[in-house]
Amino acid sequence: MLRTLRSVARFARPVLSPRRRRFLRAANIGDLREIARRRLPGGIFDYIDGGAEDETSLRGNTAAFAGYGFRPRVMRDVSHVDTSVELLGHRLGSPLVFSPTGFTRIAHSQGELAVARVAGAHGLPYALSTLSTRSIEEVAAVTTGPKWFQVYVWRDRGMVRDMLRRAAACGYDTIMITVDTAVLGRRERDVRRGFTLPPKLGPGTLVDGLRHPAWTWDFVRHEPITFANVAGSGPDGSGTAVTLSDFISEQFDPALSWDDLDWFRSEWQGKVLLKGVQTVEDAVTAVQRGADGVRPVREALGPGATVICDGGVRRGGDIVKAIALGADACTMGRTYLYGLGAAGEAGVERAHAMLTDELRRAMQLCGVRTVAEITPDLVEALR
Ligand SMILES: Cc1cc2nc3c(=O)[nH]c(=O)nc-3n(C[C@H](O)[C@H](O)[C@H](O)COP(=O)(O)O)c2cc1C
Repeated sequence: MLRTLRSVARFARPVLSPRRRRFLRAANIGDLREIARRRLPGGIFDYIDGGAEDETSLRGNTAAFAGYGFRPRVMRDVSHVDTSVELLGHRLGSPLVFSPTGFTRIAHSQGELAVARVAGAHGLPYALSTLSTRSIEEVAAVTTGPKWFQVYVWRDRGMVRDMLRRAAACGYDTIMITVDTAVLGRRERDVRRGFTLPPKLGPGTLVDGLRHPAWTWDFVRHEPITFANVAGSGPDGSGTAVTLSDFISEQFDPALSWDDLDWFRSEWQGKVLLKGVQTVEDAVTAVQRGADGVRPVREALGPGATVICDGGVRRGGDIVKAIALGADACTMGRTYLYGLGAAGEAGVERAHAMLTDELRRAMQLCGVRTVAEITPDLVEALR
């Protein structure tokens, strides 16, 4: 009888932890998001998952991909597929960049180091946030991939200059200047929950923490979280996240203008990307003023500028669509944070694997073997 059973079924080793079981069975980024939603306290999940005001842009970013379908070509021998691309002087295994996310260790104690290790292991760029919870130097020490640094333009340009020098000294070769955050967007999920960075402890947060023991246990066992790049720079020099948060919010400079790009050009020898350009007009100005790259606006720019699509990527097929429409590469932000929130470094690794498997399969099903073969005729607007 056992022989008959064995002929049609293989016996799987039982997995006792339900979360581990769910993780092993996760089929896509949406499943990782659901595991993260269960593991993280509500306020922290919403910090990762939410967007500003009515979240129209957040929904619009994913809906934009859904608004395009493929025009697959068949009978084209796709037995060998090469997903690699050349981007800003590096050969990447796939056209994918890990976006900067502030306060990453709130999702999991392994935080930025986990993200940097996964990016490095696959030779992909990781853009470290100004507001990271591991420092420029700590992250540089664990990654072999291209090192990018995301810059918020702060009122105190001396502090910005200092960070640029530190980044250059440990091998970062590209800065990404975030230009859509002259002031912070209002994230209303955070407002309703009273969620701040760092979180304030109250009866609500304590109950939330108790209801999510895996996150809480991971959090309390590890060293305190701080804004690692500016630790010690706060008003009282103590450098804890609590003392730095008001100081940092006040540092966002609403006077940010195109002239600041000239300043960055004089302070930074490496590549300069502008992050958050949302119109063709601004993309054209950015490139005229010396930026190396912006977001999708290929037709207006011609082939010279680097165009990176940031926002809404949840599937490998989305990357194919963005490239068909003119991007050189895509970023992922929430996508890896869901993985990190679900299972730390293993979750980030899994998120990367899901996206790149899907990318490869989408290319094969579309009948293309290289990223260069992903041309506009492969997609069509559905409405
Ligand atoms: C929790 C969180 C924190 C973020 N922190 C930063 C940051 O510190 N600096 C920055 O330039 N962008 C930040 N972003 C924006 C991301 O870099 C990226 O633009 C965005 O997440 C892309 O959209 P996606 O999440 O749909 O991939 C953050 C996004 C999230 C979700």
